[in-house]
Amino acid sequence: MPAELAVRTVDLRKVYGRHVALHGLSLEVRPGEVVGLLGPNGAGKTTTVKILTGLVRATAGEATLFGVPVTDPAARRRIGYLPEHFRFPDWLTGGELLAVHGRLAGMAPAAARGRIPEVLDLVGLSGRGGERIRGYSKGMTQRLGIGQALLHRPDLVLLDEPTSALDPIGRREVRDVIRALRAGGVAVLLNSHLLSEVEMVCDRVAIVDRGRVVRSGRLDELVGGGAEIRVRLDRVDGRALELLAGFGDVVAVEEETVVLAAEGVDPAPELAAALVRAGYDLHALVPVQQSLEDVFVGLVHGSAG
Ligand SMILES: Nc1ncnc2c1ncn2[C@@H]1O[C@H](COP(=O)(O)OP(=O)(O)O)[C@@H](O)[C@H]1O
Ligand SMILES: [Mg+2]
Repeated sequence: MPAELAVRTVDLRKVYGRHVALHGLSLEVRPGEVVGLLGPNGAGKTTTVKILTGLVRATAGEATLFGVPVTDPAARRRIGYLPEHFRFPDWLTGGELLAVHGRLAGMAPAAARGRIPEVLDLVGLSGRGGERIRGYSKGMTQRLGIGQALLHRPDLVLLDEPTSALDPIGRREVRDVIRALRAGGVAVLLNSHLLSEVEMVCDRVAIVDRGRVVRSGRLDELVGGGAEIRVRLDRVDGRALELLAGFGDVVAVEEETVVLAAEGVDPAPELAAALVRAGYDLHALVPVQQSLEDVFVGLVHGSAG
């Protein structure tokens, strides 16, 4: 039997009054996988995660965590959660805060005491657990937030916009923590409106717009296919165009540069050899990959508020 999916939602629907926040959202996260839920503000990412954590009840549809319906409190035992907006009592030290969260997660005090230094180390706060949160930078506070989500060794961590308040260095630190989680076999569902972030850490992406997943897949699947090659020659004449057309569709000719849409296998090496054999000087042959941004902009309707 295959391992239970860490997250499975089928046709999840959420209506707030007259406003439909989720329109049938279906999503899967496998154990140990880092999946990005990517979408503009208002797309429904936070609503989805709140349904998974039991904070919001779905209007219709199914949602399970490791096979357990989210309406069963037992579903929450194996997950950790970092909300989008959180405030910690800043008079506590980082270590004290983790101890409180350990109690909330039902850990025995002795087990929590042993685990806290490991977690501080994992989130890059070794040696800082005795300092008050008041003196932490935003990046440190955010990493402490991830730390509380990891304390009880969950198999799935839900992170809602974990880096949106951070500077580039803080973002990189959080990305490193997510990579460490993956290395430890922990599944992560990462909500983000930041393309670059999702591109850098996720195995798979589900692009959400207006309460639905409009596209999902591995990053290379989403941006692959329909790749173009820009070829710059010493001259572009009829014979060159004929030769190039044998390798794909000529999409554009700009002075000495020809843009070729090539399907399937990478034709660059053979193309280069054929051009040189035919007596052309090859100045450049550049594959142009579609970026995740191109895919995203082509799919979503912009910020819904
Ligand atoms: N408690 C609520 N009451 C009414 N509308 C809400 C509530 N929470 C979210 N919404 C609406 O649901 C939609 C999805 O919101 P949200 O899940 O927060 O999106 P995201 O996290 O992708 O920015 C938005 O249009 C938002 O205004
Ligand atoms: Mg949100």
